[in-house]
Amino acid sequence: MKRFFFSLALSLVALVTYAAEIPVPQIQCGPWVVGVTENEMTIMWITTERSMGWVELAPDDGTSFYAEERPRYYEDYLGRHTVTKVHKVRVAGLKAGTTYRYRIYQQGIDDSGHNPVAGRITASNVYSAKPYAIKTMDKSAKECRFSMVNDIHGRDSMLIALTKNVKTDRPDFMVFNGDMVDFMGSQKDLEDKFLKRSSELFATDIPLVYVRGNHETRGPGFSEYLNLFPTNTGTACFTFRQGPLAVIVLDSGEDKPDSDLEYGGTAAYDAYREQLASWLKQAIQSDDIRTAPVKIALLHVPFEKGKGWYGSNELKRLFVPILNEAGVDLMLSGHTHNYGIREKGTCDGNEFPILVNDNDTRMDVVATEKEISVKVIDALGKELHNLKFEVK
Ligand SMILES: [Fe+2]
Repeated sequence: MKRFFFSLALSLVALVTYAAEIPVPQIQCGPWVVGVTENEMTIMWITTERSMGWVELAPDDGTSFYAEERPRYYEDYLGRHTVTKVHKVRVAGLKAGTTYRYRIYQQGIDDSGHNPVAGRITASNVYSAKPYAIKTMDKSAKECRFSMVNDIHGRDSMLIALTKNVKTDRPDFMVFNGDMVDFMGSQKDLEDKFLKRSSELFATDIPLVYVRGNHETRGPGFSEYLNLFPTNTGTACFTFRQGPLAVIVLDSGEDKPDSDLEYGGTAAYDAYREQLASWLKQAIQSDDIRTAPVKIALLHVPFEKGKGWYGSNELKRLFVPILNEAGVDLMLSGHTHNYGIREKGTCDGNEFPILVNDNDTRMDVVATEKEISVKVIDALGKELHNLKFEVK
């Protein structure tokens, strides 16, 4: 018996020593929150080490986060909690129009042998900092308020200038309408170019809606796009509702012909845009879209009057008839680095106006059942334009 306890003690010492050698994960970037609907959201973050991540959720009821055991949500794959550096935890079963506080955890795991060994747990700070909080979407809300920036191309000072007040302004969501970077290099590049800053400024607490730009199609990291910004469709296109507004998020692909020397033979956007059009035809038939009193499409590359660049011409040919059929009230774009408006009927039969945001301004949008108002704000906070659009 004595021998048994001695060997048990030795094993425990060995296990503790082993666990102590497992690298301790820290939060490297994030969190940011995507895919927010009335009932679900996906909380994203990146850790310094492979680890098992989870989210604890608490209602926004003024109680201490430690008042009781809070429910935990993991990312599961084929029956196991994932061990990864990029964490994406889908939280479901939420109530519409409700604010939830959350905290993120990560635990080092050595899963190199038969039996995984757990290491230390670290977490976001709720001792001395306010917990993060996210509000779910709500179809019964009277209005929808959102803000949009685009074509930041990794300019940190511009991102700060345009989004520093977003957390206090509390729009229902924030839109990145493409080209946040020049190039999808390494994941670290993306973290340094805009993700860390976005998380620090607002993306912990304001849902992020990312519209892929043509520059997000470039570089070796392009295939990380949906890993970092997952959607509920598994593609870069999706729809959602907030208040009376239906939002249709579309992807552009590239702006030149597939054979262009810039793409080195890797481009297959002709076929891709056809697939997107098929998806869009189906998506506009959903009850959420059909019954929405007001509809806005988000597409990075705008349609042009007359003949524009090849990608834009193709998007126009494929999407205009479907967006007309859907009864879209307004389309918001970027890409040109110039403010502009294409009125109804000027882009081969578009039955809705297209508003193009500059690369140095933010659009603040309010949509009600009757009207869409758009304010264009510059980096100094000055209002440059104040527009009203009728709802059909
Ligand atoms: Fe662009």
